[in-house]
Amino acid sequence: MIADRRVLVGVSGGIGIYKTCNVVRQLTEAGAAVDTVMTASAAEFVRPVTFEALSKRPVLTSLWERDQALSHIHLGQSSELILLAPATANLLAKAACGIADDLLTAILLAAKAPVLAAPAMNDRMWANPATRHNVSKLSERGWKFVGPAVGDLAEGPSSSPGRMVEPDEIVANAVRLLRAPSSGLNGKRVLVTAGPTREKIDPVRVITNPSSGLMGYAIAAAAFSRGADVRLVTGPSQLPVPHGVEVVRVETTEELRDAVGDDLDRSDVLVMAAAPADYRPRSEGDQKLPKTDGAVTVELEPTVDVLSATADKRRDGAIIVGFALESEDGFAHARQKLKRKKLDLVVLNMAREPGSGFETTSNRVSIIGKDDVRELQKMTKLEVAELLLDQVEVLL
Ligand code: CTP
Repeated sequence: MIADRRVLVGVSGGIGIYKTCNVVRQLTEAGAAVDTVMTASAAEFVRPVTFEALSKRPVLTSLWERDQALSHIHLGQSSELILLAPATANLLAKAACGIADDLLTAILLAAKAPVLAAPAMNDRMWANPATRHNVSKLSERGWKFVGPAVGDLAEGPSSSPGRMVEPDEIVANAVRLLRAPSSGLNGKRVLVTAGPTREKIDPVRVITNPSSGLMGYAIAAAAFSRGADVRLVTGPSQLPVPHGVEVVRVETTEELRDAVGDDLDRSDVLVMAAAPADYRPRSEGDQKLPKTDGAVTVELEPTVDVLSATADKRRDGAIIVGFALESEDGFAHARQKLKRKKLDLVVLNMAREPGSGFETTSNRVSIIGKDDVRELQKMTKLEVAELLLDQVEVLL
């Protein structure tokens, strides 16, 4: 995804620097070439050798190092993204005024790459009008900000923003800035559904299925990283919400239908990865049904088919992707669903195949279009999500 992309991580002196170590590690593991530049105060918190070991590249700290005479010009120009983490109040103030009195601020003045800053400071420093003014000046110049978050600071508990956001959130936003400009999903609105729905039998019993939501959550995360504006409508799931994604939580298939219907006329893409319950009890018991010795009959009625029920709300030219989880005659059933539900793509997976379908982190799928079929190897759901979105981009 970001193999060989050039990222410059500028580190200023704040206690949040311990999280920056993790950020550099994640970016490096994702294949990026990470150059770290530290201010003198940053090097008081963590020694440069830590970042050197994590990035496997030299770390720069001063304008005055031997053989580094023009590094502030070269580094600024060869980087595709400059990530400032932590970005202290002092660093933001200097950048806003164009001060260039050390290597990092000189790079910022000479660079043309987009800048993403993860501010970290005392909450009163962040709220100070001077910092507010600097941040708005930098935003006007196109800088992007991630955080700060509300939470404990080095000096104690706080209920105001100040602390640096967590590494995963910084990395998700950095990857998005790297990927979005070359993605066909950049700026598009993507609606993804995920997880099961639940239909109540009585106050303590439900009809549901073992969908974990993993596939839909992976698609939402991948769409965000390509620059899309993503809304995830999810049935009950314990998974962490992907960064930057707007979440709508639903319980029943009817609620899922309403949430999809509300957003569909604005969406360029709908990916229906949810596994809605197809039946619900004809009536829901007010009280818990007592256990009896004999068999119990619960009368079921079909729920609404979300794709069919919302078909008239689709925007012209929108790409609609459905899933088909089958136990036999997969291709034939999937093709029928493609036609019946008026889909552009259907992702077929087989329920009984080990490492596929519900509750696994991997999947082996075939992506079926109107005229072609792409059979994929078994891979992680995140990899499936990426290949699926590649095809969506082609159709868009
Ligand atoms: N789907 C839907 N509404 C439902 C059930 C399913 O919109 N009530 C969507 C799923 O999210 C999926 C596609 O339809 O994208 C196919 O789902 P699947 O369960 O495989 O098919 P069904 O239509 O339920 O048909 P069957 O159970 O007979 O295979």
